[in-house]
Amino acid sequence: MIFEQFSRIGVVPVIILDDSKDAAPLAEILCGNGIPCAEIAFRTPAAEETIRIMTREFPDMLVGAGTILTTEQADQAMNAGAKFIVSPGLNPKVVQYCIDSFIPVIPGVQTASEIEQAIELGLKVVRFFPAEQAGGLATIKALASEYIDIRFMPKGGISAKNLKDYLAYDKVIACGGTWAAKRKLTASGEWERIKSLVKEAASIVRNIRK
Ligand code: 3PG
Repeated sequence: MIFEQFSRIGVVPVIILDDSKDAAPLAEILCGNGIPCAEIAFRTPAAEETIRIMTREFPDMLVGAGTILTTEQADQAMNAGAKFIVSPGLNPKVVQYCIDSFIPVIPGVQTASEIEQAIELGLKVVRFFPAEQAGGLATIKALASEYIDIRFMPKGGISAKNLKDYLAYDKVIACGGTWAAKRKLTASGEWERIKSLVKEAASIVRNIRK
C-alpha cells in the first residue's frame, strides 16, 4: 500500500528539474541514501521525461507527480509512469479523474471546508499546504482533532530543522519539501551537497520512526 511506503520513507522530496539528464543521478542519490521517493513538480518541461527515466531505471522508487493542476497533466504524469499525483490545492475534477484512473491522489488543503470536500470525494490522506505559513503543526493538530480519520502530508517551510516535530505526530504520514534537493542545487549539479542533505533527512526519519 502506497501510504505505508510514504510512512516508512517519511520524506517526499519535491523535485523541480530543468533538465531530465539530471533525473538518473538524482534518483541514484535518493535511493542510495535512504529516501527512495520523489515528487516531480510539473513546473518545468522536463517533468514528464524525468518521471519516465526515474520509473524505468529505478523501478522500486516511489516516483510521483506534483503541482498537477489539470486532468491533462494527470494524464501525462500517469503515462510517464507516476505512481501518485499531488496538487497544491483541491480541484474536485482532477481528484475525481485520478480516482477514476485508479491512481492515488493527494490534494492540498488548508481549511476545514477543504478537508470536508476531500472526505466527500472519498479521500483519507491530504497534503497540508503551505504548512508552516498556514500555522504548521498546531493547525494540523486542530484540524485532525475534528477529522479523526484523516491523515496529513504537510509541505511548505519544512526542512531538517522542523521535520522531527512534524513526523512525531502520528497523523502526519510523511513531509514534503524542496529542501533536500533544491532547484539551484540540482541545476548546478551539487550532488555531494544533495547527498548529505538526503542522508540528514533519512537519519531524522530513522530516529523518529524506529
Ligand atoms: C514548493 O516550491 O513546492 C513549495 O511551494 C515550497 O516548498 P518548500 O517550502 O519546501 O521550499
